[in-house]
Amino acid sequence: MSQMKIRKAVFPAAGMGTRFLPATKATPKEMLCLVDKPLIQYGVEEAVAAGCTEIIIVTGRGKTTMEDHFDRSPELEASLAAKNKTALLEIARSVSKLAKITYTRQPEALGLGHAVLMAKELVGNEPFCVLLPDDIVDATTPCMKQMVEAFNETQSSILGSEVVAGDAIQNYGCLDCTPDPKNPRLLAVKNMVEKPKPSEAPSQNAIIGRYILTPRIFELLEKLTPGAGGELQLTDGIKALLQFEKVYGFSYEGKRHDAGDKQGFLRATVELALKHEKLGPDFRAWLKTFPL
Ligand code: G1P
Repeated sequence: MSQMKIRKAVFPAAGMGTRFLPATKATPKEMLCLVDKPLIQYGVEEAVAAGCTEIIIVTGRGKTTMEDHFDRSPELEASLAAKNKTALLEIARSVSKLAKITYTRQPEALGLGHAVLMAKELVGNEPFCVLLPDDIVDATTPCMKQMVEAFNETQSSILGSEVVAGDAIQNYGCLDCTPDPKNPRLLAVKNMVEKPKPSEAPSQNAIIGRYILTPRIFELLEKLTPGAGGELQLTDGIKALLQFEKVYGFSYEGKRHDAGDKQGFLRATVELALKHEKLGPDFRAWLKTFPL
């Protein structure tokens, strides 16, 4: 089989964001601003850094600000140009030049597996990545880039994974896996279960919101029946893929923030603000004076 390259990235972004109410009542959670850009832009930039040129966003009702964000804004650009604000003009333009972005809709929130299935025609018969915009991964080498490099070796589906503590495993897909003797970052997956009871979890290896999947996943997603929480689960589709192909977990280098959760979002805000090239130094100085 010839080497398959990853060109396309799918972003499930149709969820209602109930964990973040009231902020997400009329604003898509993917558009919540983390430091100085919306959550989804972090993911799109990560996919582009991993070599993706086509972005497929699975949206739903009330999500059109995402499309405006990645589009050109002639009025804004004209106004900035007229005032000679070239640096701001460049920022506004660069967002619309990140990649070719296509939108498709998930008419009903039936689950993550169903959301990914909505991208079937746009992905076609090639391996692709999936990024969940809630999961922000702060890493020296962008997480998806690390995973694409691993895919180039294995040519198999790869799921971002991290070890979580104690009962937290019940909030994730969980991998029954063993490290590959040649590359300990790769975890050969034997089985997986979505949101297990802690007493039944086969390990503490959680799936995080980064996946590279082979296109066979679509025929398996089409056959899904409701799983954990009554939803059509991506984890169940990948579990079915195990009958046909190898699947690996990938223990990435970096730190993940669950920015879809209020506490996780606050922590991500402080950590990323401190690291921000322009805002960081002043913010750090101010934080030091803050009476805790
Ligand atoms: C989804 C997946 C789960 C995965 C998690 C990572 O769950 O279903 O397997 O571990 O994302 O963030 P959700 O957080 O949407 O409930």
